Amino acid sequence: MAVECVVENGIAKIIIDRPKALNALNSEVLQELKKAIAEIQTRTDIRVLLIQGGGEKSFVAGADIAQMSDLNPLEGSEFGRLGQEVFSSLSELPFPTIAVIQGFALGGGCEIALACDIRIASEKAKFGQPEVGLGIIPGFGGTQRLARLVGPGQAKKLIYSADIISAAQALAIGLVEQVVAPEQLNEAALKLAQMIAAKSPNAVRLAKIAINQGLEGSLEEGMRLEASIFGLCFASPEQKEGMTAFLEKRPAKF
Ligand code: HXC
Repeated sequence: MAVECVVENGIAKIIIDRPKALNALNSEVLQELKKAIAEIQTRTDIRVLLIQGGGEKSFVAGADIAQMSDLNPLEGSEFGRLGQEVFSSLSELPFPTIAVIQGFALGGGCEIALACDIRIASEKAKFGQPEVGLGIIPGFGGTQRLARLVGPGQAKKLIYSADIISAAQALAIGLVEQVVAPEQLNEAALKLAQMIAAKSPNAVRLAKIAINQGLEGSLEEGMRLEASIFGLCFASPEQKEGMTAFLEKRPAKF
């Protein structure tokens, strides 16, 4: 098994660990990832997911080039669709997801990170979409999600050049949200996960829906969506608890 999933105190952790290939994604790993995501998606006890690569060197070094090398067009398309399906199920998880990136996040590895809500990286992490150097294009959502996250110009620069960039450069273009020293990565990721996990899970999940669905349409549609979801918050006991706790000058318990 290359994919492990553990849940502790409301924080789920998925680890992709295939050391002999720097955690590269072949179809077996993708199927394992699909299963792990399916198993956690309906769990109401989970408040946050951390996803990371095993070992020190690599988050995920991409799709498995050895496996892809002999694919025909139909098989290539199926492989791409499998990855797209798995990464979409990751991006559609109802709770926040954080990619914890200690090393290479290349090709499909960068695309997993893009499918998460937030990316925290070590100063040693490296990012890139090297596909055009292999005669292919990003096929697990990269052409779409990268352009949406960093803007079309930066996405095109990265994708056309196949350049590998540092964590500092990734931070500068908005490809990651936080960069920390390598030895602080796990602690920083856990700290953020714990901060999120301590808040109203209902409100956090609704905020995710408002942001993600809102981005699909116009600002006006997004505003209407926000107003509806804002109203919905008042149907939850968590709103009563949050506001009562404030007025009683005590921490809220969710
Ligand atoms: C298969 C891979 C791999 C990959 C590394 N390995 N990346 N195997 N697919 N994506 C294997 C190597 O072949 C090698 O196996 C072992 O992992 C260690 O890697 P090295 O190259 O020896 O390490 P190093 O010299 O440190 O270089 C690290 C690296 C390099 C810069 C990350 O491995 C590299 O460039 N990897 C490919 C990155 C890439 O192009 N990713 C995008 C793939 S395309 P052996 O057996 O020799 O020890 C993609 C498309 C997504 O992701 C969409 C598909 C639809």
